[in-house]
Amino acid sequence: MRIKVKVNGVWYERDVEPRKLLVHFLRDDLGIKSVRVGCDTGNCGACTVLLDGKPVKSCNLLAVQADGSEIITADYSDELMERLKRAFHERHALQCGFCTSGMLLASYALLKNKPKPTEEEIREGISGVLCRCTGYQNIVEAIKSAAL
Ligand code: FES
Ligand code: FES
Repeated sequence: MRIKVKVNGVWYERDVEPRKLLVHFLRDDLGIKSVRVGCDTGNCGACTVLLDGKPVKSCNLLAVQADGSEIITADYSDELMERLKRAFHERHALQCGFCTSGMLLASYALLKNKPKPTEEEIREGISGVLCRCTGYQNIVEAIKSAAL
């Protein structure tokens, strides 16, 4: 099946097997390796991308379900995303980095909708992404510092 998706501002048109997961389409067909595969079962959130502005676990969707949509990955760059990346770096909000793409995208979606979230809202906003390393505190601090 032929699908067309806009990823980080660029349109791609590709033939795709109907059963291919979006995460594998992004990584293997489009070469976007910042989208991580953790559990492949919808639990860890490492594969989170934004689909038409909403965070989704890309291992939970088929590529064909994204046809015609706009996808944002951690490679995306605008003022907010750069602010978040800088804050994660400065606040030591990562260790192994495996969750970081998902965390950045969950935070990006949160701050887009709520530029000044409370700590509770931040924790809720990133609750779909698991981090095994940091204990979350530095991630929460980074998001707070990136909020306007
Ligand atoms: S790889 Fe998708 S939720 Fe874990
Ligand atoms: S930094 Fe290792 S899982 Fe989050």
